[in-house]
Amino acid sequence: MRTLKNILVTGGAGFIGCNFIRLLLEKTPEFTGRIVNLDALTYAGNSASLRDIERRFGGARYLFERGDICDRAFVETLFRKYDIDTVVHFAAESHVDRSILGPEAFVKTNVLGTFTLLEAARAAWKTGGMRQDVVFHHVSTDEVYGSLGETGYFTETTPYDPRSPYSASKASSDHLVMAYFHTYGLPITMSNCSNNYGPYQFPEKLIPLMILNMREGKPLPVYGDGKNIRDWVYVEDHNNAVWTIMRKGVTGEKYNIGGENEWENITLLQSLIAIVSEKAKLDPAKVRGTISYVKDRPGHDRRYAMDCTKIKRGLAWRQGVSFEEGLERTVDWYLENNAWVDGIRSGEYQSWVEKNYGDRG
Ligand code: NAD
Ligand code: TYD
Repeated sequence: MRTLKNILVTGGAGFIGCNFIRLLLEKTPEFTGRIVNLDALTYAGNSASLRDIERRFGGARYLFERGDICDRAFVETLFRKYDIDTVVHFAAESHVDRSILGPEAFVKTNVLGTFTLLEAARAAWKTGGMRQDVVFHHVSTDEVYGSLGETGYFTETTPYDPRSPYSASKASSDHLVMAYFHTYGLPITMSNCSNNYGPYQFPEKLIPLMILNMREGKPLPVYGDGKNIRDWVYVEDHNNAVWTIMRKGVTGEKYNIGGENEWENITLLQSLIAIVSEKAKLDPAKVRGTISYVKDRPGHDRRYAMDCTKIKRGLAWRQGVSFEEGLERTVDWYLENNAWVDGIRSGEYQSWVEKNYGDRG
């Protein structure tokens, strides 16, 4: 079991990263070290997501450094300044639709940014060959494996077959991470996870977008026939898995993480309508009337589904939150956190949406 002291979290102001920081500082007593959050605060990064963490742990166990993972000199300074022994790399451009509209940022951050971090880690940890008391954990996605038919699951040995600029850039970063293990002996671990949901997710992704559009009476845009399938996992379950791999995972290995919880988009939307209508006192029939089938996403992967046998057997990880419970918690969070929501659904993001999608929300 590794003892992790000075952890560099990249992308800690984003959805999964901020939940990871909360998990470690609020709910993980065995972690007594320090977290340095390196984040560029792009449109998806939000310092409001960690304001209370800053207040409670800032200066001592939590430090925020605004910067770009592509900035080699800056990243190298952080390794020295904070004596970093662990990297958990969440920072990325993460939305498939944006990768179709503008792929360049995805290549920059996801490919060049990951490369820059790997180089900085290699330079910092190159003592006597390569330090082995350190670890670089790379957070990736199931989308690198491509699209499934009606049956079958992705395993860790499924060949890579990315279809969108997002998944292609994540696949490239995965290959670089593995190459640094095989070529330089950099101690890495990697995880590929299915679709996450939960608090603090940027509301351009399916679940928060739908919750907020329902609340505001806006159309609910369903791509294509609505029968694409995703395997949904609650964000805290994903982060527990990441933490487990960071401490106990075998160096040089990758692990699949998923919810083992497949839903067609349209069925998921019907469940969400029932929950939101009840909690926000809306008429479900009226809300159902706002479902709007829109033009499909180009190259839209039909089905994702993860086989999680390796992490379950090897590291004794299990999902802890049922879909029902997770959706309830997520809906409650979006209905209760108006300041966080309004901070995003106004100004810059709203103008971007109107420019690219009209009034869809
Ligand atoms: P997000 O878009 O919510 O957050 C990304 C964060 O990275 C933001 O805070 C942003 O400011 C930061 N960032 C972007 N470019 C940067 C740069 N050049 N330098 C420094 N910081 C930068 O993403 P997320 O949903 O939290 O995803 C986190 C990671 O998990 C990503 O690597 C993503 O590929 C992976 N992943 C996400 C999901 C999912 O369902 N969201 C599923 C599997 C894997
Ligand atoms: P998304 O949250 O963008 O995640 P990903 O593309 O990484 O899986 O989308 C989840 C699914 O929901 C995907 O099949 C696309 C679909 N979708 C819609 O039907 N309407 C929408 O407005 C969005 C954002 C997604």
